[in-house]
Amino acid sequence: KILTDSMARMRHVPLWSLTFLLLACLPSETDALAVMSVDLGSESMKIAIVKPGVPMEIVLNKESQRKTPVTVALKENERLFGDSAMGMSIKNPKIALRYFQDLLGKHIDNPQVTLYRWRFPQHELVKDERRQTVIFKLSHEMQYSPEEILAMVLNYSRGLAEEFAEQPVKDAVITVPVYFNQAERRAVLHAAQMADLKVLQLINDNTAVALNYGVFRRKDINATAQNIMFYDMGAGSTVCTIVTYQTVKTKDSGTQPQLQIRGVGFDRTLGGLEMEYRLRDYLVKLFNKQQPSKDVRQNLRAMAKLLKEANRLKTILSANADHAAQIEGLLDDVDFKAKVSRQEFEDLCSDLFQRVPGPVLQALSSAEMNLDEIDQVILVGGATRVPKVQEVLLKAVGKDELGKNINADEAAAMGAVYQAAALSKAFKVKPFIVRDAAIFPIQVEFTREVEEQDKSKSLKHNKRILFQRMAPYPQRKVITFNRYTDDFEFYVNYGDLAFLSQDDLQAFGSLNLTTVKLRGVGDSFRKHSDYESKGIKAHFNMDESGVLSLDQVESVFETVVEDKPEEESTLTSKYTEEEESQAEAGKEDQGEKQDQKEGEGTVSEEQGEEKQQPSPMQDKTETIPPEAERQEEKEEGEKTASQDLTVRDLEKQEREKSANSLEAFIFETQDKLYQEEYQFVSTEEQRGEISRKLSEASNWMEEEGYRATTKELKEKLSELKKLCRSLFFRVEERRKWPDRLNALENLLNHSNIFLKGARMIPEADQIFTEVELSTLEKAINETVTWKNETLAEQNKLPPTEKPTLLSKDIELKIAALDREVQYLLNKAKFAKPRPKKEKNTTKTDSGKNATAPPDSEKIIPPKEEKGEGEEATLGDQSGPDTGRDSFV
Ligand SMILES: *[C@@H]1O[C@H](CO)[C@@H](O)[C@H](O)[C@H]1NC(C)=O
Ligand SMILES: *[C@@H]1O[C@H](CO)[C@@H](O)[C@H](O)[C@H]1NC(C)=O
Ligand SMILES: *[C@@H]1O[C@H](CO)[C@@H](O)[C@H](O)[C@H]1NC(C)=O
Ligand SMILES: *[C@@H]1O[C@H](CO)[C@@H](O)[C@H](O)[C@H]1NC(C)=O
Ligand SMILES: *[C@@H]1O[C@H](CO)[C@@H](O)[C@H](O)[C@H]1NC(C)=O
Ligand SMILES: *[C@@H]1O[C@H](CO)[C@@H](O)[C@H](O)[C@H]1NC(C)=O
Ligand SMILES: *[C@@H]1O[C@H](CO)[C@@H](O)[C@H](O)[C@H]1NC(C)=O
Ligand SMILES: *[C@@H]1O[C@H](CO)[C@@H](O)[C@H](O)[C@H]1NC(C)=O
Repeated sequence: KILTDSMARMRHVPLWSLTFLLLACLPSETDALAVMSVDLGSESMKIAIVKPGVPMEIVLNKESQRKTPVTVALKENERLFGDSAMGMSIKNPKIALRYFQDLLGKHIDNPQVTLYRWRFPQHELVKDERRQTVIFKLSHEMQYSPEEILAMVLNYSRGLAEEFAEQPVKDAVITVPVYFNQAERRAVLHAAQMADLKVLQLINDNTAVALNYGVFRRKDINATAQNIMFYDMGAGSTVCTIVTYQTVKTKDSGTQPQLQIRGVGFDRTLGGLEMEYRLRDYLVKLFNKQQPSKDVRQNLRAMAKLLKEANRLKTILSANADHAAQIEGLLDDVDFKAKVSRQEFEDLCSDLFQRVPGPVLQALSSAEMNLDEIDQVILVGGATRVPKVQEVLLKAVGKDELGKNINADEAAAMGAVYQAAALSKAFKVKPFIVRDAAIFPIQVEFTREVEEQDKSKSLKHNKRILFQRMAPYPQRKVITFNRYTDDFEFYVNYGDLAFLSQDDLQAFGSLNLTTVKLRGVGDSFRKHSDYESKGIKAHFNMDESGVLSLDQVESVFETVVEDKPEEESTLTSKYTEEEESQAEAGKEDQGEKQDQKEGEGTVSEEQGEEKQQPSPMQDKTETIPPEAERQEEKEEGEKTASQDLTVRDLEKQEREKSANSLEAFIFETQDKLYQEEYQFVSTEEQRGEISRKLSEASNWMEEEGYRATTKELKEKLSELKKLCRSLFFRVEERRKWPDRLNALENLLNHSNIFLKGARMIPEADQIFTEVELSTLEKAINETVTWKNETLAEQNKLPPTEKPTLLSKDIELKIAALDREVQYLLNKAKFAKPRPKKEKNTTKTDSGKNATAPPDSEKIIPPKEEKGEGEEATLGDQSGPDTGRDSFV
């Protein structure tokens, strides 16, 4: 019993952070099993994958970073992404596109477009005449819609995931801001489609965070409801969410934990970026004052540098009372330096801080709750690190403290990838029920001719709520029209959005979703004149992605059939006739207020079992928004454009690539020299040396670079890389330590528990020999000693020197100790119960004289080996030395 217990515990040991719980790979599937998530922030994205053997992990990008800037730099024959593109945003701001998600699905006159133009005057935005939306015009040949740009980013994210997973990835869950409306959600789906990704679901990013939080607190969730408020201030916007966690009974799988989105409040433009713009403009003012003969605003590159410096300043002022902003050669070789205090920063943003409580109040009112009912408030998102934000929020929520106990940066990506695994057929995941809520009400409107008491006719305008505010989804709804006997039309519109601020309402765009014109209604009545009409039913579906579609409209007739006299009941048979629904934009006069008593147009939830459930991506042709059809045509055009560029991509010259890599390296490294992480492990001289060499290379590029050969460019790059190698190494190592040491500590703890357990097995039932157990003990002892000594040595070293504690070594130690444990576990697993009569013999055999079998006899579980029970299996064991495999 003890052994089983400790073995069971072994199975739960997280090795690198999150590998425990949940995931089992079902047999049969071969490759392409991995699924991914993209947490698509306005500033940067985080990608996570699940594949057999690698449960839930954040994907490292090409720079080994856990997040990647959402930036695309478009050149004639090359595209750059991520950090390389960020380098371009300073060097050549015109070609680097950022924060473009704000433009998805927006008409050109939307205030978000105006704001974008103000923030990024370097980009030319022109009108897409067909859709009235915007297009980035980089040159006559290079014109891209925000959807196409997003498609490129999604395609790139898939590339990163595939590289990391070492296999193709096609299925993804993508996060979207909860306030994305129908047009914006469709734009994201459209982009994913262009990137050839199969979207399992669009998940609201606040819901993904809540799911991640719940999954790791499964044990704390019981029948008593707990209400948690998440306050998420990111770069672009702020969202406050109230979530209720509790266990519920389900039909199929017993009692399971559930999260329900109860309230949501948001502010579309409140976030870190706006603070950075305030700081930038302040720096602009300071510089122009210092240099009255110049105007820095005329220089795009200088402005881009100032924005970047503002970003750094904001971060530093979150921890320090003041800091000197500093940019060398900002404009015409003039350096810029100015001290900015936190107080100044807070004054610049005072109106923004006043907006902090807004989303809280909105969330409470939509949930119809008050603050007493909220058990905890948890911070999410980078901008919540600004002390003033926390101060104002704390006051607004009246709690003792704000929870900081989730990984604010990665929770959404992890929650989304959990959902991806749950939706993928290749994995088995412990159920966690998610009930999301639609934050914008949707209603059906129609106008009908009615007869007044004096027999005169008049038109009545009616409204029926289809989905009210905070309606849970996915959900199907049917609206039944009983009085129409001929063709008619109805409108699907957003309902009352009075809870939105004036700004948010303007950014929302059109309140009309579509007009549905029905044909063939009159015919169906003529054809079935013998039957009784049960009305015209329109079946709506709001799917997992929060996307509304009209599945079908049917005219239902019923007839009563006389049956054998002895049977009392009557049978009804049902004839349904599907009518064509056709989407067409239409106009309508302002109608009168609805007559509640009229009884026409009753809305109900879809009854019976699910009918032809369309997957989120497949219902295109039946969806109703007016854009649907036009979008489809447009897609063709866009696909060609993308392919053209791909051809050009393929033709790009080696030389240019080398030049770009060199440029990018110089820019990125110059930037790194200012980052705390790099400064901590380097001396002033070391940095000076590197900085000098970088400047030299940069000058060389400008003067000679255009005639340099590929070889020369490559040599220059490798020279620089060599120069920086040891610095980068020290940073990398430090980044890896916490994870690795934690894993080692864990393994040591659990090995000890295991050893103790094994030692307590009565001698008669003992399956391990003493030599085996003392070998394990020795391995544990040695590992502890190594760790102690190496850590002690490392602590004596200055951080600027080559570390003695090496992540590679930690991994080797883990692998070695793990091998011992694995060996014993396998032995136990394959040990046969001992026949009674052998007892005596065995005892003598397994005395002090037994020796451990040689390595070759160790039983390595076959690849397909699955653990027992879904929670226990963590995928197969493929060499712990890769540093990210689970070990059970
Ligand atoms: C998508 O990315 C891959 C690399 O991951 C690249 O080979 C391919 O050309 C890209 N496709 C498009 C349409 O950009
Ligand atoms: C549910 O869990 C909470 C803490 O997580 C605890 O305080 C409460 O007593 C539990 N309720 C029940 C009915 O177990
Ligand atoms: C939106 O719908 C309403 C009511 O159905 C209608 O009166 C109005 O004209 C529509 N607006 C536009 C721009 O189509
Ligand atoms: C290992 O065990 C010690 C004490 O038994 C405990 O303090 C420590 O937190 C454990 N470490 C891990 C990573 O579980
Ligand atoms: C391991 O260390 C413990 C205490 O540190 C000691 O009692 C034990 O004898 C050691 N075992 C082996 C096999 O070295
Ligand atoms: C290792 O260090 C821990 C605490 O730092 C100490 O308790 C333990 O005795 C040390 N073990 C060895 C074998 O040095
Ligand atoms: C083992 O066998 C011997 C005689 O062969 C007997 O005396 C002894 O009791 C047995 N021991 C056990 C544990 O069965
Ligand atoms: C151990 O076994 C070997 C041969 O198998 C034998 O020569 C030796 O005497 C044994 N030692 C003990 C302590 O039983």
